[in-house]
Amino acid sequence: MKHHFKKATATLLLLGLVGLCSFWGKRPYDGPEHKNLQVLPKDIKQEKLKAIMDGFCSALNVKCGFCHVRNKETNEWDYAADTKGHKKEARDMMKMTNDLNVKYFGVDLNEENPKVAITCYTCHRGEEHPVFAPKPAQPLLDSLRTIKQ
Ligand code: HEC
Ligand code: HEC
Repeated sequence: MKHHFKKATATLLLLGLVGLCSFWGKRPYDGPEHKNLQVLPKDIKQEKLKAIMDGFCSALNVKCGFCHVRNKETNEWDYAADTKGHKKEARDMMKMTNDLNVKYFGVDLNEENPKVAITCYTCHRGEEHPVFAPKPAQPLLDSLRTIKQ
């Protein structure tokens, strides 16, 4: 019974996802080819590019529009445009992350599924600006103050 329920839920989720994609209309990763890839391989598979872009969103906790813009006339997304500084910064970050993996962790990026050591999430942890120092332990300090009184 429980098993069936799980299966049904999974099917529903899947249908939901398919629905969402068709709702999207022209999907962002539809070819014929990507016009402005400077770091990623130009012949990258659509699902791989999607996984990478979804990864950027969750690593920084942002949406596509953080880096990409819509065409002003057609209002369609123009993913190839380099209008936003964030996109250019992201490209530098991709190069840095690749360098760290290759130079310091001996990762072979030419493998089909390289076992990377460093990802955007390693530093960003769901934040636009990575924290670089521990947050002050305010609750602990407060409790110490209470003890003193
Ligand atoms: C943190 C910045 C960032 C976020 C967020 C992001 N992207 Fe990207 N995206 C990039 C960068 C950088 C490139 C170019 C990579 C390169 O030069 O190899 C790119 C390239 C692309 C391309 C290929 C465009 C072309 O023709 O050259 C598509 C399509 C795309 N992104 C879709 C998306 C979608 C859809 C989302 C949201 C789910 C998203 N991106 C979120 C930074 C981002
Ligand atoms: C080694 C740590 C590290 C890694 C790995 C890393 N970043 Fe960053 N990133 C930073 C730091 C530090 C900043 C500067 C933060 C600031 O200005 O407060 C930054 C800034 C950025 C910014 C600019 C944010 C803004 O609002 O100006 C973007 C976009 C970005 N990173 C995207 C990425 C993406 C995409 C990846 C993965 C390909 C990545 N980063 C991997 C450390 C890292």
